[in-house]
This record gives sequence, C-alpha cells and structure tokens, in this order.
Amino acid sequence: MAPHPWTLLALPLVVLLLASVSPPGADAWGKEGHIMVCKIAENYLSEKAAAAVQDLLPPSAGGELSTVCPWADQARWHYHWSSPLHYANTPEVCGFKYSRDCHNSRGQQGMCVVGAINNYTDQLYSYGHSKSSYNLTESLMFLAHFVGDVHQPLHVGYEEDEGGNTIMLHWYRRKENLHHVWDVSIIDTAIKDFYNKSMDNMVETLKMNLTDGWSDDISHWENCANKRATCANDYAIESIHLSCNYAYKDVEQNITLGDDYFFSRYPVVQKRLAQAGIRLALILNRIFDGDETDIKPVQIQ
Ligand code: ADE
Ligand code: ZN
Ligand code: ZN
Repeated sequence: MAPHPWTLLALPLVVLLLASVSPPGADAWGKEGHIMVCKIAENYLSEKAAAAVQDLLPPSAGGELSTVCPWADQARWHYHWSSPLHYANTPEVCGFKYSRDCHNSRGQQGMCVVGAINNYTDQLYSYGHSKSSYNLTESLMFLAHFVGDVHQPLHVGYEEDEGGNTIMLHWYRRKENLHHVWDVSIIDTAIKDFYNKSMDNMVETLKMNLTDGWSDDISHWENCANKRATCANDYAIESIHLSCNYAYKDVEQNITLGDDYFFSRYPVVQKRLAQAGIRLALILNRIFDGDETDIKPVQIQ
C-alpha cells in the first residue's frame, strides 16, 4: 500500500523535530551535571548570597538555583551569540592561553567560557545599584551554567575535534561521541549502576565526600589569587590538562570504551562536579558579600 501523502509530508518534520530535541554537541554537562553542580553550590552560599540569588531567580525556578542551571543550553538556540560562550578550544596543545584561545569563530576576544564567567560576574557586581541596566536574572543563570561548563574537561579541548564532538566511538554498546561521554554518559552510567537510578543519591554522596574525604582540598579549590577577576582562567587550564591526561588519553576514532575507561575517569568527573559547585558558591559569595571597597572584577585576565 502506498503511504498516505500526509505521512510523506510529516516524516521530514518528525525528523527535524527529533533533531531539534537533542542536537549533537549541544549540551554541556548534561542537564544532570548542571543540576548537581548547582545543588552543591546552594549548600555553600552565604546568607547574603542566598538572599540575592532568591531575589534574582525567576518564579519558574521554585526558589532553587539548580532548576535554572541547564537553561543556557536552551538559550543558545535563540541567543546565537551565546553558543561559543560554553567552551574554549586550543590548537591541539595541552595548555590554555586567554589571548590565543578565548574568542569566537569571528575572532572576537573574550567570547569563550572564561570571558563569559568574568563578564557575567562583572555584571552581577551591579546588583543593588539602581542604575544597573543588565538583566541580572539572566546574568545569574548564565554564570551558574558556565562555571559548570568550564569544569567539564572537554569544554576546554582541541579545536580540531571540537572538544571531542567529532570523535565517534562506542560507549559500551552504544554509538556516541567522546564529548557526549563526558557531558552525559559517565554520569548516567554511575547513576544507574551505583545510585539506584537517582541523581539525588549521587548529589548526597558528593556532598558527603565534601565534608569527609575532600574537606582538606576545599581551601585549595577555593584559593583564587586573582582579586580583579574570577579564577576561571585557572579552571580552564585544569580542564585542558584533564582533557589531555584523561579524556583524550588512549582514545581514537571507533574505539569501544567500557569498564576500564569508566572506572579510571569517573573519579575525575566526581571531583570536577564538586569543584564546580564549591567555586560557583565562592564566586557568588564574593559578589554578594563583598563590601564597597572591593576592587571590581574586570573582563580580561
Ligand atoms: N563546540 C566546539 N568545541 C566545543 C567544545 N570544546 N565543547 C562544546 N562544544 C564545542
Ligand atoms: Zn558539552
Ligand atoms: Zn553549556
């Protein structure tokens, strides 16, 4: 039987719709990664910062920062200019240099994840000043998202393979790309295998690690010598090192990644999620606790 003409018309539409639901390489940490980072950050906010965050959150957030942390990944489809702000790439070297690597495809300086973190931090410093002309709700939602992104190692990766997006491989039996493995699959596998399919159980474990095993590390993670801007530049350098030493290491096109890769890389993912949460809280506390004499941050490192 010949297909009904409607079916023929609808098919490309369905394909298009499906493609737009999960565009390749669209996400940073997947939704879950971003939510976990922000749930950790919420635990470490000062009273003043928590109050400012409450004041700035949109009503749809239900009073929780974590609800809006994935937002920027949807926003990139109508704010096209924001797409390069989720990452930074290097010319296949294991080091990040702001002046060389922080730009969009048109060469505009500062248009990368490090520049974005400094820019939105800068904007949020105008909170409480009536002359602020920024949409500080969006500034907060962008900042909370990008601090997560800069901690995903492959968000500071190689230009040539778009941070692993063009490296096709198998994650166990499933066809994926390397970038997606780090955004989503390592986390999903852990949630499924270790946490009874509950993201909240994983967050609780990360929070427990922060008060036990990692408690001595927190002050190092928080150590940010840069008084004029955030330490996003340092976080990007850490990420490209982790990309070289863990994400890209021993990986090639069409390889199958399984238990060996998962068990050796999962600790890196856990630590980066926790670091991102702690550092997001640190940045927000600095912004909203700061006294008037603090030197305002600037965009360029
Ligand atoms: N697109 C190009 N490079 C990218 C990266 N490093 N991360 C995410 N998306 C990208
Ligand atoms: Zn990503
Ligand atoms: Zn992102």
